[in-house]
Amino acid sequence: MNNENADVTTDKPKRIHDQAPSELFSNFMKSGWAPSDLSNIEPLEVVTYAYSRRQVLSAAYKGIRLVLPAGGFKVRANDSDYNYRPHSAYVYYSGVQGADATADAVLVLEPSGDSHITYLYMNPRSTRDTDAFYRDAKYGELWVGRRFTLDEAQARYQINTRHLNELEALLADGKETLTLRNVDPAVDPKVKKHDREDEFATFVSEQRLCKDEYELREMQAAVDATALGFNDVIHAMPAAVETPRGERVLDGAFYGRARILGNDLGYNTIVGAGSHACVLHWIRNDGDVRRGELVLVDAGVEVESFYTADITRTLPVDGKFSPAQRALYMLVYESQLAGFAAIKPGVLFSEINKACQEVLAKGLADMGVLTVSAEESMKPEIGLHRRWTLHGVSHHLGLDVHDCAQARKEQYLDAPLREGMVLTVEPGLYIQPDDELFAPEYRGIGIRIEDDVVVTADGCRNISENIPRHPDEIEKWMQGILGK
Ligand code: GLY
Ligand code: MN
Ligand code: MN
Repeated sequence: MNNENADVTTDKPKRIHDQAPSELFSNFMKSGWAPSDLSNIEPLEVVTYAYSRRQVLSAAYKGIRLVLPAGGFKVRANDSDYNYRPHSAYVYYSGVQGADATADAVLVLEPSGDSHITYLYMNPRSTRDTDAFYRDAKYGELWVGRRFTLDEAQARYQINTRHLNELEALLADGKETLTLRNVDPAVDPKVKKHDREDEFATFVSEQRLCKDEYELREMQAAVDATALGFNDVIHAMPAAVETPRGERVLDGAFYGRARILGNDLGYNTIVGAGSHACVLHWIRNDGDVRRGELVLVDAGVEVESFYTADITRTLPVDGKFSPAQRALYMLVYESQLAGFAAIKPGVLFSEINKACQEVLAKGLADMGVLTVSAEESMKPEIGLHRRWTLHGVSHHLGLDVHDCAQARKEQYLDAPLREGMVLTVEPGLYIQPDDELFAPEYRGIGIRIEDDVVVTADGCRNISENIPRHPDEIEKWMQGILGK
C-alpha cells in the first residue's frame, strides 16, 4: 500500500505518487464528520504508582528540568518501521502503556518550588480540521489509527499534556536540564550537555531495582502468559519435527501467544534444537527439530504494560529424556535449587552465581571431566568448569529483560539483595558437539533452566513455579498435551 499523498510532517514528497491535495479536495475531506472525542476515560491503576516514582526522581533533582523521551520509530527497511516500543524509563515514570504509547512523546518534569510539575508532550490525534488525518502515513488517523487527544491522554494518565510542537520552544529557554541521551535524536541537540548526565541515567536505572506492587502483578501476568506460550510450543512439537527448519515452527508458536496476550516478545526467542542449544544466543532458529534430541526454548511475553518474563525450558522432542540427557538435566536442576536457596535479603547478588556454580563444578568433577577438584575450579583465577557453564546465572528483570543495566556495580553485582527485587535464576550446561572431554552420548547436549523469582522478606518466591521444571513433571506435562 502506497501513500499517494505527501508526508505532511516533513512536507517533502516521499514517493513518486505524492502530490499536494487540491483546495477543493482538502476542504471536502475536512467536512462532514461527526464529533468523536472520547468521554468518560478513567485513569489507569498505574497512575498512582507512576506519581510516586516521579516524586522520588523529583526529590533527587530539585530545581533541574528532567526530560525523558519515549523515542521514535526504528527503521526496519526503507519506509517500514519495527513495531513501536517506548523507552523503559519513559514508561516507568509516565505509566503509558499499550497502544497509548505513541512515538516521539517526551515526559518533562518542570521544576516548581521544591518539587516538579510533570508534562507529557505528545503528538495528539490528527483531528479532521487538518490534512494530516488522511495524508500523513506515519501519524495520520486514516493510515495508522486513532491516538488520544491531549485531553483524553490527560484523563487516562493524570499528567498535564502539551502538544509536541511546543517542546522546542520550552527547551530553548536555557534552563538547567538533564535528559537521557541517545533515546531521541530530535531531543539530544536541544539539550545542552550536563556533567550529571551519566549520574542521571544511573539514578533512573537504579530506581527500578526494587519493584512496586503494580510491577510485581504485571510481571506475574507476563510469566503466566509465557506459561501458555510454552504450552503452545509443546503443541507445535509434532509439526516442528515434520517441517524443515522446525525451530521456526516453535518460534512462531510462541510469538503467536505473545501477540495474542501481550504487546510483543520481551526479547528475541531462542529455540535451540540439538546442539544449537549450546550456542547461547541462538536466535537464527533455522535448524531442524529431531526426535531423540532436546530443544532449548528461552522466551518471554512482554505484556501491554511492557514488563517481560524471561523463562527457559529444555524439552525432550519425544516427550521423554534419555538417561544421558536426564543425568545432565538433573545436575542443572540441582544447581538451580541451590540458586533459589541462596536468595534472601542481605545476601550478595554474586552469591546466587556462586551457589549455582558450586553444584555444577562438583557434578562435573564427579563425572571426571575436570582436571582439578571442584574446590580448585571454583577459585576465580582457575574456573575450569566454566568451559561448560559459560555465563552468569542471574540478572534483574522488569521493563527490560536485562533490567537496571545502568546500575552501578556496587548497587547490582556487588550489592546485597533487597525485598522486591525480581531476578532470573538460570544455570546451564553446554557440551559442544566436538568436545572430546565428554563421552559421545553427552556431546551436543545443551541445557538451561531459567525461572523468575521475587526476593521476599525471608527468601524468594518463584513466580514461574507453575511451569514444569523437574524431568518427571516435564514428561507428564508433554504427555498431557501430546497424548503419548
Ligand atoms: N533471554 C536472555 C537471558 O536469559 O538473559
Ligand atoms: Mn535471563
Ligand atoms: Mn532467558
